[in-house]
Amino acid sequence: MDLLSNKWIVNLLVCCLFIGVGCNSVEKKIYVHLNYTVPCVRLLNATHQIGCQSHLSGNVGVLHVLESEENVDWVLRSGPNPPYLVILESPLFTRSIMMKLKNGSSRVAGVAVVAPSANPLEGVSPHTTCPNENTGVYTENYDPSLAHCNVTVWNPLGSGLSYEQFDFPIFSLKDDNDTQVIRQCYMDHNRAVNGSTPQYPLCAMQLYSHMSAVTDTATCMRRNDINFSISPEMVCDPLGDYNVWASTRPINNTAKGHKMWESVVIAAARLDSRSFFFEVAPGAESGVSGFVTLLAAAHALRNATQEAPPNRTILYTFFQGETFDYIGSSRMVYDMQNNNFAVDLDNVHSVLEIGQVGLRADSRLWLHSDPVSRKNDSVNAEVRKLIESLQTAAKGLNVSVNEPGFSQPLPPSSFQRFLRARPIPGVVIEDHQSAFTNRFYESMYDNAEYLNISYPPNLTPEEQLVFVTDTAKALTEVATVVARALYIQAGGAESQLEGINADPQIVTRMLYGFLIRSNNSWFQQRIPPDFMSHLTDRPTNFYVGVAQQRSELTHLVQYLLANLTGSTANISQDNCQNQREDEKDKESKHMYSYVWVQGAAPPNSTKREGFCVRSTVRLSKALSPAFDLRDYTSKNYSTWTESRWKSIKGRIFLVASHDLEMLTLGVGVAVLLASLLLTYIMSSKADILFSSGREPANATY
Ligand SMILES: *[C@@H]1O[C@H](CO)[C@@H](O)[C@H](O)[C@H]1NC(C)=O
Ligand SMILES: *[C@@H]1O[C@H](CO)[C@@H](O)[C@H](O)[C@H]1NC(C)=O
Ligand SMILES: *[C@@H]1O[C@H](CO)[C@@H](O)[C@H](O)[C@H]1NC(C)=O
Ligand SMILES: *[C@@H]1O[C@H](CO)[C@@H](O)[C@H](O)[C@H]1NC(C)=O
Ligand SMILES: *[C@@H]1O[C@H](CO)[C@@H](O)[C@H](O)[C@H]1NC(C)=O
Ligand SMILES: *[C@@H]1O[C@H](CO)[C@@H](O)[C@H](O)[C@H]1NC(C)=O
Ligand SMILES: *[C@@H]1O[C@H](CO)[C@@H](O)[C@H](O)[C@H]1NC(C)=O
Ligand SMILES: *[C@@H]1O[C@H](CO)[C@@H](O)[C@H](O)[C@H]1NC(C)=O
Ligand SMILES: *[C@@H]1O[C@H](CO)[C@@H](O)[C@H](O)[C@H]1NC(C)=O
Ligand SMILES: *[C@@H]1O[C@H](CO)[C@@H](O)[C@H](O)[C@H]1NC(C)=O
Ligand SMILES: *[C@@H]1O[C@H](CO)[C@@H](O)[C@H](O)[C@H]1NC(C)=O
Ligand SMILES: *[C@@H]1O[C@H](CO)[C@@H](O)[C@H](O)[C@H]1NC(C)=O
Repeated sequence: MDLLSNKWIVNLLVCCLFIGVGCNSVEKKIYVHLNYTVPCVRLLNATHQIGCQSHLSGNVGVLHVLESEENVDWVLRSGPNPPYLVILESPLFTRSIMMKLKNGSSRVAGVAVVAPSANPLEGVSPHTTCPNENTGVYTENYDPSLAHCNVTVWNPLGSGLSYEQFDFPIFSLKDDNDTQVIRQCYMDHNRAVNGSTPQYPLCAMQLYSHMSAVTDTATCMRRNDINFSISPEMVCDPLGDYNVWASTRPINNTAKGHKMWESVVIAAARLDSRSFFFEVAPGAESGVSGFVTLLAAAHALRNATQEAPPNRTILYTFFQGETFDYIGSSRMVYDMQNNNFAVDLDNVHSVLEIGQVGLRADSRLWLHSDPVSRKNDSVNAEVRKLIESLQTAAKGLNVSVNEPGFSQPLPPSSFQRFLRARPIPGVVIEDHQSAFTNRFYESMYDNAEYLNISYPPNLTPEEQLVFVTDTAKALTEVATVVARALYIQAGGAESQLEGINADPQIVTRMLYGFLIRSNNSWFQQRIPPDFMSHLTDRPTNFYVGVAQQRSELTHLVQYLLANLTGSTANISQDNCQNQREDEKDKESKHMYSYVWVQGAAPPNSTKREGFCVRSTVRLSKALSPAFDLRDYTSKNYSTWTESRWKSIKGRIFLVASHDLEMLTLGVGVAVLLASLLLTYIMSSKADILFSSGREPANATY
């Protein structure tokens, strides 16, 4: 015992001594950890990997602030100290520059993009020009002349950057003091003045974003399986979440796949969006404008569907993961076909989908329909009726609804997945006649600013929350049109239409909650107490995420939809949380879902008064069927997975020259060897040096 601890102390002493000597003061003079960095991560599908990654130990490069596109030559050829870590101001974050850097990736250690605080003037979209090109209905089998956006290129500004694969890390930095430190470090140390070569020490940056998964989804799922038996270490996870749905009549959700006597009209919108960077997905026009409109329409229909219920049930559906090859809608259709959903596909009468509706020029909405299924007379007649319903619904409102006026396929939409299954009549409402009006489709700029949501100066957050913006007024009109059209479509009487009106107060609060900050009193009153910690002072993130966890967005939409379409039930908290009306009740849970929400505090009190909300709101899986079928090379279903990673971080410091580093390393190694030798000598002679005399020294060897 004594002997062992003696040896340990000797070791420690020797090491401390030499570390003191070996430490070199040039190596890391300044050392700033970057706090607000957002990486680009690796995603995989059946055939490709996209996104970015670093080496396991991070990528280090000499900082170079790119000043213009011509300047890229310094990075790729003339600069004397490669590899470089390129700092890009966002206007230079273009396909042309990024592809040059990608091609010269041996001299590029990474890229950091400084996100601007205001949107650019020109349109920018890192998405593809033809979103979800291969998984919609327009394939070669359906109609070759319409496949691959042959007639209409929906997103002409799309650069496709989000779908490229880079061998180096790419981070986004907020334009703040950190970024100022970086610029200053570059100016002080790295800038070539008058063509001279910058001298060491140089300012360098290190970025960590090592990704565990490689090649494609089949490969990473196989590795998941293999390693699960040895150690449960996963390398990738399927993208996915939950769809949210509700019906105007309660439907027995336990009895799957039964044919009902009445048919349903599906009112659909999608929830998710994305951008180049991980979890930066503001999706204001591409997602929020549509689903907020549908939420407001569902609310507008609550009274009418209860007091004068139309013959058909309206099914509100909010799809998740649509950005990644229609995960949510393909799953719902698949479940409907396989008797795994409360409604059978045969019961679907028609579909009305709300797409991007936030940027209407001249208050016009465009009604898109599928020219192929409309060749069938009965489908065509139903589509005509639906279009007429929409025109009737828009009467007297500041909205005009039009057909595009020429034959073109549907824009990217969940409805396409229904058409893949069978020719169901349907219409997709958009604010664009052909190509998107959205100039920032699936980019970090598709935000509240772009939707023109602005408030008078000097309003407190709570005042902003209740301020009715012009955008909210405009979307309220759209929601009213949608609600009235759905009512007619469901067989309701036109005499009731006057009473169906969306509420601008609610629309403006939802826009504020999703696009400015979710932590506001209006949202707080409508959620369960344990969900409070998920509300933030930032806009909601609309990236779908991985399938094991439900995102904040899914929950928020679930609670809001319950509040907007359900009713308050006089039920105890305990019964509410156990999905029953009272202790004996075992049936209600099949028809309704119950949520205990925290409500508001009465005027003189700080204690909130919770209550129970009874509604028909349900969640259903939005995981691509490819993963249930274990068909990881599927051509019909989404195969997107997200790689796992250990750490995402960045820092900057000064590096000495390569020669000096090598010298330091050499000295370090020499010191290490010397210390090992010394340790060995000392411990082998320990019985002499530290004579304890109780045990022979070689007993431990
Ligand atoms: C970044 O985080 C570190 C540690 O959390 C903190 O010391 C530093 O002040 C932060 N820097 C900035 C610019 O916020
Ligand atoms: C890629 O780099 C090579 C030289 O490294 C060059 O010859 C080639 O033209 C580059 N390709 C593109 C597309 O820039
Ligand atoms: C679309 O495809 C059809 C048939 O494949 C072809 O004849 C037509 O020229 C294409 N149209 C465009 C605009 O490319
Ligand atoms: C996978 O993604 C890549 C990059 O976007 C695309 O080119 C390819 O077609 C996709 N593969 C499938 C099977 O969808
Ligand atoms: C940034 O720097 C300025 C001036 O140096 C300082 O006033 C400000 O508080 C800093 N902001 C943060 C977030 O550190
Ligand atoms: C760079 O060159 C300009 C003109 O050639 C000169 O005025 C300036 O002083 C030079 N700067 C340095 C740091 O040498
Ligand atoms: C998973 O297992 C494979 C083969 O057994 C091995 O090569 C790989 O390193 C493992 N990966 C992880 C992350 O454990
Ligand atoms: C709902 O369906 C389940 C399973 O078929 C059945 O047990 C239950 O009684 C039904 N409830 C109602 C209210 O129809
Ligand atoms: C619904 O009806 C209730 C009472 O019948 C009324 O107070 C409420 O304003 C109505 N809501 C709408 C949106 O018409
Ligand atoms: C709705 O149902 C009622 C009663 O069952 C029937 O008289 C009416 O014709 C139906 N309306 C439609 C549009 O089917
Ligand atoms: C919705 O939430 C508000 C605020 O808590 C509450 O006043 C209202 O009664 C709720 N509606 C329903 C149907 O529970
Ligand atoms: C709340 O306060 C007001 C005045 O401060 C008082 O008139 C009222 O009775 C109080 N209400 C309750 C429920 O205590």
